[in-house]
Amino acid sequence: MSTNSSPNSVQLPTDQVLVLKVIPMPGDCNANGDIFGGWVMAQVDLAGSVLPARYTQGRMATVAVNEFIFKQPVRVGDILSFFSKVSRIGRTSITVKVEVYAERYSDQGTYIKVTEASLTYVAIDHQGKPREIPKPAGQTS
Ligand SMILES: CC(C)(COP(=O)(O)OP(=O)(O)OC[C@H]1O[C@@H](n2cnc3c(N)ncnc32)[C@H](O)[C@@H]1OP(=O)(O)O)[C@@H](O)C(=O)NCCC(=O)NCCS
Repeated sequence: MSTNSSPNSVQLPTDQVLVLKVIPMPGDCNANGDIFGGWVMAQVDLAGSVLPARYTQGRMATVAVNEFIFKQPVRVGDILSFFSKVSRIGRTSITVKVEVYAERYSDQGTYIKVTEASLTYVAIDHQGKPREIPKPAGQTS
């Protein structure tokens, strides 16, 4: 139980799916001693791919990072929770929102939103060309 709550603490989203949890280590730091933004981006790219994979049923590629906001620094030992939801399903692409919440090492049970992003993934064939997202079973149009 936390006795040291941050003024930035928030509730976890209830309308999104928990797609990844990970703890950054000292090797993931930048020169300031905070976690390197590129490491966070790589985790968000992985987390963002989880829901699209349920639709594409095969190969896909990240085509765009539409928005990426680092709201608060991420620190070594934070427990990071990645939440996601689909915001658009196109003919060959799927766009998702990803939000990242940190439980600080010394403030367990309190969540701070550290990052939010929007990414688009494209279903691709074996030549790496866009392909239509398969219709869910039973749906013809
Ligand atoms: C992904 C890729 C196959 C798409 O090829 P393309 O010829 O640009 O495809 P299209 O123009 O037909 O667009 C395909 C879909 O992507 C969407 N798209 C393309 N560029 C986009 C952009 N900048 N932002 C958002 N969506 C985009 C299109 O709207 C379309 O979606 P829809 O069919 O649902 O409407 C190609 O761009 C590619 O191989 N990129 C490299 C992917 C990669 O290596 N990613 C990892 C980077 S480290």
